[in-house]
Amino acid sequence: MFKDRLRHSKLFDRIVDADDAARLITDGMTVGMSGFTRAGEAKAVPLALAERARRDPLKITLMTGASLGNNLDRTLVESHVVARRMPFQSDAVMRKAINAGEVMFIDQHLSETVELLRSGQLPPVDVAVIEATAITEAGGIVPTTSVGNSASFAILAPKVIVEINLSQPEALEGLHDIYIPTKRPSREAIPVVAPDSRIGTPFIPIAPEKIAAIVVTQGSDSPSTTEPADANTDAIARHLADFLLHEVRRGRLTERLLPLQAGIGTIANAVLQGFTDTPFHDLTMYSEVLQDSTFDLIDAGKLNFASGSSMTLSAAKHRRVLSVIERYKPRLVLRPQEVSNHPEVIRRLGIIAINTALEADIYGNVNSTHVGGTHMMNGIGGSGDFARNAYMSIFVTKSLAKEGAISRVVPMVSHVDHTEHDVDILVTEIGLADLRGLAPRERALLVIANCVHPIYRDALEDYFKRALLRGGHTPHLIEEAFHWHDNLRRTGKMLP
Ligand code: COA
Repeated sequence: MFKDRLRHSKLFDRIVDADDAARLITDGMTVGMSGFTRAGEAKAVPLALAERARRDPLKITLMTGASLGNNLDRTLVESHVVARRMPFQSDAVMRKAINAGEVMFIDQHLSETVELLRSGQLPPVDVAVIEATAITEAGGIVPTTSVGNSASFAILAPKVIVEINLSQPEALEGLHDIYIPTKRPSREAIPVVAPDSRIGTPFIPIAPEKIAAIVVTQGSDSPSTTEPADANTDAIARHLADFLLHEVRRGRLTERLLPLQAGIGTIANAVLQGFTDTPFHDLTMYSEVLQDSTFDLIDAGKLNFASGSSMTLSAAKHRRVLSVIERYKPRLVLRPQEVSNHPEVIRRLGIIAINTALEADIYGNVNSTHVGGTHMMNGIGGSGDFARNAYMSIFVTKSLAKEGAISRVVPMVSHVDHTEHDVDILVTEIGLADLRGLAPRERALLVIANCVHPIYRDALEDYFKRALLRGGHTPHLIEEAFHWHDNLRRTGKMLP
């Protein structure tokens, strides 16, 4: 049976245990690991590395696709292995270390990391550690539940450690489409012309002699941490569906819409789930993370095809989807994140992008990353790749956080990830603001009227009226713009 997983006969002598493989990683190295939003991360070598570092301290720069599952970020931080981390994380312990200044975190657009690596604008990857379903006859690596940055890490690194995970179904083979953009200055167009375009190989092509170690593992991906839909996320989904139906009636979209992208997290997942009860049909996705909602829409007969870079599912959905993956395979493809998130493709396909804001301001600027303007939450992820280049860029958020102590619509965002120029539509459970073609003064009126929770509306109206007296294209009371954030920092509430 294992011969089906390791089909290159000359590689059998590279099989070692995780401790031996981890010894290839030494102090000061840059390590590129597979893993994207808790899916498809190498499971044994990072643990062996952390274990060794407890006895024999070492520091590395850790690059991944996005966040790691199985508490690996946490374990590596607790073993003091991580000096630098990029391009995304979502772990509470890693977050704390970043905000304490113990780990230098580089928060990057997810499409950009390997572009920077390939062109030598970042220090090179010394070792790649990649989880695989199988190794082909020619030494190609078949990824598991994510592609992320694995292909470029493996291609660029001089040494590759492969973890063949026997718990990942062999039937995952054929799901992936590995395409690496050609070299500049004569780069060719990326030939994705529809979400279901297949343009590459179903494995990562590398020279087999680069495979320095193979570790045989077991162990499942971690379940996603998204919460179920609630009354507020249902209301956001309803507002959005009504708005898109209005666009259909105006002849700007059809009921098939355009390819959908939905961001990570509870809100975007729940909003997409809400599309099950709409007249939209024959939908497609060109997204980054495929969450539970993707499979709910496929099961409901609403979604024809989904392209992503990883599958991050709740425990129950993970068990079910992976046990019948052959059934879903004709409707799915997993790509490198630089292709799933590529500005050229996103603009060509005309994506409807739905991402979540931590907070938005009255003019439509969005903060996705920094709590209170200073403390990192997760990272920008792919939200910027999609928001700037989409056909329509939608941001969703609940109007309140922390039982109303926080308004998620504020006078001025305390950190800007998506400028007003990148935000077309803002939706909360209160309502929707269509900001397209509006000047800042018009945008503020609409955001305050449609998106702000009533307990904060008077205060925002008052702020805006007084700002108008000062004038300006984008009126503000600069000395007051962060009063709410300052109140929150001092008293735990934005308003007394
Ligand atoms: N200030 C402080 N805390 C806030 C806040 C604010 N303005 N807004 C939300 N929070 C807190 C919530 O209370 C919640 O905390 P809890 O877990 O202690 O209850 C937490 O932040 C998450 O908020 P939630 O409303 O549950 O949203 P979510 O799970 O949908 O996540 C983001 C929202 C913004 C954190 C998440 O979408 C993200 O990391 N986005 C950036 C990356 C991205 O968009 N990638 C998509 C590209 S495909």
